Parts: sequence; structure tokens; C-alpha cells
Amino acid sequence: MKLSLLHTSPALLLFIILFQTLNPQPTSGFLSTSDRWIVNESGQRVKLACANWPSHLAPVVAEGLSKSPLDAISKLIGSMGFNCVRLTWPLYLVTNSSYATLTVRQSFQGLGLNVSLDGLTKNNAWILDKTLIEAYKAVVANLGSNNIMVILDNHLTQPGWCCNNNDGNGFFWDPFFNPNEWLAGLSQMAGLFNGVTNVVGMSLRNELRGPRQNVPDWYKYMPMGADAVHQANPNVLVILSGLNFDNDLSFLSKKKLELSFPNKLVHEVHWYAFTNTGTWSNQNANDACGSITSNIMSNAGFVLSQGTPLFMSEWGIDQGGGNRNDNRYSSCALAALAELDLDWALWGLQGSYYLREGVLDVEEAYGAMNFDWSGPRNATFLHRLASIKSPFRGPGLNNPLNTVLYHPKTGSCVVQDGSTNSSLHLGPCDSPRGWKYNGQTIQLVNSDSFLKESGAGQPVTLQNFANSDSFKWDLISNSKLHITSQTNLCLDSFKWDLISNSKLHITSQTNLCLDIGSDGSTLITNPCNCIGD
Ligand SMILES: *[C@@H]1O[C@H](CO)[C@@H](O)[C@H](O)[C@H]1NC(C)=O
Ligand SMILES: *[C@@H]1O[C@H](CO)[C@@H](O)[C@H](O)[C@H]1NC(C)=O
Ligand SMILES: *[C@@H]1O[C@H](CO)[C@@H](O)[C@H](O)[C@H]1NC(C)=O
Ligand SMILES: *[C@@H]1O[C@H](CO)[C@@H](O)[C@H](O)[C@H]1NC(C)=O
Ligand SMILES: *[C@@H]1O[C@H](CO)[C@@H](O)[C@H](O)[C@H]1NC(C)=O
Repeated sequence: MKLSLLHTSPALLLFIILFQTLNPQPTSGFLSTSDRWIVNESGQRVKLACANWPSHLAPVVAEGLSKSPLDAISKLIGSMGFNCVRLTWPLYLVTNSSYATLTVRQSFQGLGLNVSLDGLTKNNAWILDKTLIEAYKAVVANLGSNNIMVILDNHLTQPGWCCNNNDGNGFFWDPFFNPNEWLAGLSQMAGLFNGVTNVVGMSLRNELRGPRQNVPDWYKYMPMGADAVHQANPNVLVILSGLNFDNDLSFLSKKKLELSFPNKLVHEVHWYAFTNTGTWSNQNANDACGSITSNIMSNAGFVLSQGTPLFMSEWGIDQGGGNRNDNRYSSCALAALAELDLDWALWGLQGSYYLREGVLDVEEAYGAMNFDWSGPRNATFLHRLASIKSPFRGPGLNNPLNTVLYHPKTGSCVVQDGSTNSSLHLGPCDSPRGWKYNGQTIQLVNSDSFLKESGAGQPVTLQNFANSDSFKWDLISNSKLHITSQTNLCLDSFKWDLISNSKLHITSQTNLCLDIGSDGSTLITNPCNCIGD
């Protein structure tokens, strides 16, 4: 996370949000890779649906423990639908002797965090006299007992907020990034968690960046880091970031990285709206989505076709709904995550920080938790996330490869029971009935029924095929997120995604787009909006 603006929003939620309990995939022992997929010991795909949980800021303690008991936080992580946490740590946690014997209490006292210390005493008194590394291990263990997988993420060297180009922590040989110290720290951390079954991966360094970054040093040091981890702990996935704040793995297209050991390499990429602020704010949202997604593919997405899994280990939005660029980006990002069926980690879990950039008890508008860490910040957003937590594809999934009509704006999919003339509605994305799209018609599998549009504002229905234009659908717009009938009625603008077989949009030949009726659920067609200017 390189964003350095503070997101302060004083509004607390004063009511309880009831949210769906989702069933995360179980922790499945050690993981490895098979082609572009992460798989468990039976060779079945395990999809990482993670939240980032910072433990790398100045206190070097997982955030939120002053607000809620550790076990309650772990349980909430599971009930929000995450099966995994990317738990950050600063290198100094294990390489700098001044942190080795520091207790949590001393760390908070030294930083003047009196209010947070009171909160810790109330909610997690057992942690106060543990050393920082003991506290970190206790967090990992508690996540394990709640069936949550963990990725240990070396976020930076010096504890504190991350990242900018000139913070001295960005690239090998920066003032605070000695490669030998880094290798020693990785090795130590990997060894400490050897045999801990819920620790499934380590990401070796977050967001490489800055004036010293260069490709030759990347090829020199990253395999050394991978070897250091693997020798100390052969069980974990080794997750390697790219250059330029983890936006750029493009150099791998010329030369794929070969490690000295097989089936453990995963690459990671980060994607935020603020990386492309100008594009999101100035361009048509569809054009912006199309061009930015295409950049992501050429900078990182191509590794999938090289047979390496890609973990989108940071992405997220201001969940208050007030950030226009984030809102535009969110449908685009969800469409890409679903379409590519990526493993991912939301930034972030944390509803607040003990201390960030000199400010005490700061709220995090991007956090899945509310400010009190008592529940989710935004149930609507969590519902959207639910649609990408389960795998759509991959080894060991027995369901046939069908097309899914996915609506990123709500995180829902078109479902129906198959009866002729019935209208169609949004529902869960794991519905067993899929669709077949042949470039023209959209057919319910194992049926003679096809999607038909009936004019602007009218429900889309399932009908036995009659050869007319109102049965024909196109994918239009640069984002490919519009589904238009060949009579040019679209599925609601910028909101549709055809998953699998890489088709992204649907429109009709009369230029009407698929849309959602005012009941928020019924599939209708309306004139296409915002395709061009
Ligand atoms: C692998 O994952 C599948 C699906 O979640 C599960 O049924 C199976 O038991 C797992 N195998 C192991 C060895 O954990
Ligand atoms: C250890 O950390 C302290 C506090 O951040 C710092 O002042 C010191 O320079 C570090 N020592 C080494 C050897 O990096
Ligand atoms: C924090 O606590 C310490 C020790 O109890 C005390 O000396 C200090 O004045 C307190 N600081 C604030 C800002 O309350
Ligand atoms: C949740 O997100 C939605 C969609 O962006 C927004 O309209 C709503 O205001 C948000 N709710 C809260 C409580 O922030
Ligand atoms: C479906 O609608 C068509 C045209 O309105 C009608 O002719 C047909 O009988 C209907 N079929 C069913 C099963 O209701």
C-alpha cells in the first residue's frame, strides 16, 4: 500500500449489520502449484481469498488487538468469507536485536500509545508481556485454530507505514535494504514457522521500488531469497513481487524465472485505482477499464500463460462509497479477478491503526472491519467479495466449464430454474446451472432455452430458440463489460461479465444492454449507457 493520504472518517456504525456466514474452503495442509493453479496435497485447487492484516507498523503488533479479542477477530475473518490472511512483518522483527526482547507493553509505552495500551489490557491482556515475535506467533496460531491460512509477508525493513520511492526500504542496497540481512531474516522467519500447517506461503518482499530498482538485481537476489526460504521451510509457497510497487512483472515475458526447486513459485501483483488516477477520472469508465486491464495483463497477467499462479495480493477500495475513481475501478477489478479466477488478498482487514504516520487510532476506509473491529464495515461490499471467494475453475473441480453471467456491481450472477417464458434474476454465483455462449446466442446448459430480449425496460426471458435478432447477443465496449442484444439492447452498462472462455460482455443487436430492473434483481434490457463518450 503506497497511499499516503489519511482516510479519516469519523462516522462509526451505530447499528449491527447482519451478514451472511460464508463457508471458506478448509485449511488444507501444505500447498504447491500445478500449472497456473495453487493446489493442495490431493492436487485439488485451493483458492486464496485473503485479507491483508498489517503487523509491520511501528508497534510491530497485528492491528486491532486493542479493540477486540484475538479469537473474536479470527472468527470474524472466517465468517466474512476470507480463508486466509497476508500477515505483514518488518525485517527488523527478526534481524534487529533491539526488537528481540521488546515486549508488546514496552513497544506501546515507547511510542506513547497509552489509549491503545488500555485497550490491549482490556481485550488481550495475555499478550502484553510477550515479546513481539511471540505475539506474532500467537496471532498465526490463533488463525490456524480458526482454520485460516497465513501468508507471511515481508513488507519492509524498518517498522512503519509503507511505501514510497525514497524511504530507503525499496530495493536491494537501499540504505535499509541490505540483501544479506534480508536473506538471513527470511531464513529465520521461514524456519520459525516450519511445520506450522496453516502457514502456506511467504511473500518475500513487498512493492520493490525506487531509484535503485533494476531487472538484473531482481534476477540475482529474488532466487536467493526463494532458496533461503525453501531451505529453511520447504513447505511454503514462495511468492515473488515485481518492480514499481509490484505493478510490473513484464520483464518475465522475455525470461521466465526458473527456481532451483519445483512447484512452489507464485507471483504477486498489486492493483489500486490510485495507480491510474488520471485515466479513471478523465476517461470514459469503459475505455479506462479496457485499457487498464490490458496493461495489467501485459505487466503481470501473462504469467498465467507461462504456467505460474498470480496472486493479486493487494487491491481494494474506500468502502464508504464516496470515492468516484474507486467506484469505477471496483467493477473493473472484480470483473478481472473473476474472469482470470485469481487468488487475491484485499487491502485490508484493518478497521484502524494504533499509529499511522504520527496519528493515533486512525480509521482505515479501505478496511473490511469497522473502526471498532466488531463487524464488517460494509456488508454490500462483502457481498460483492463473496462472488470471487470460491474457485470458478481449476484442477479437481468436477463441475463442467460453463459460462457464468456475472454482475460485478452487485457480485451476483444470473440464475434461473429453466422454465420457459420465465424471467431471470440475480442470485449466487455458485449456482449449478451455467450458460453456453457461442458468440451469438446464450443458452441455458442442458436445455433448449435461450435468452431473449423483449424491448427497452422489458424483462429478459428464456424462450425456445426462434431464429431472430432478439436472441443474439454481443460483447461490446472497450471494457467488454457490456452485453448488448443484436437489436442493441445491453445488459446494464459497465456491469456484466461473462466468465470462462474469456468473453467479457453482452449486448443485443438492437443496441439494448442487459440491465437490472428497479427491484434490484430482475434481468431486463435498457438502452446502452456510457459505451463511448
Ligand atoms: C484438497 O481440497 C479438497 C477440496 O477442498 C478436499 O476435499 C481435500 O480433502 C483436500 N485434500 C487435502 C489432502 O487436504
Ligand atoms: C535497529 O533498530 C533501531 C530502531 O529502529 C535502529 O535505530 C537501529 O539502527 C537498528 N539497528 C540496526 C543494526 O539496523
Ligand atoms: C502515557 O503513560 C505514561 C506512563 O503511564 C505517562 O507518563 C504519560 O504521561 C502518558 N501519556 C499520555 C499522553 O497520556
Ligand atoms: C457501502 O458501499 C455502498 C456501495 O459503494 C455505498 O453506497 C454505501 O454507502 C456503503 N455503506 C457504508 C456503511 O459505508
Ligand atoms: C411462451 O410464450 C409464447 C409467446 O408468448 C407462447 O406462445 C407460449 O405458449 C409460452 N410457453 C409457455 C410454456 O408458457
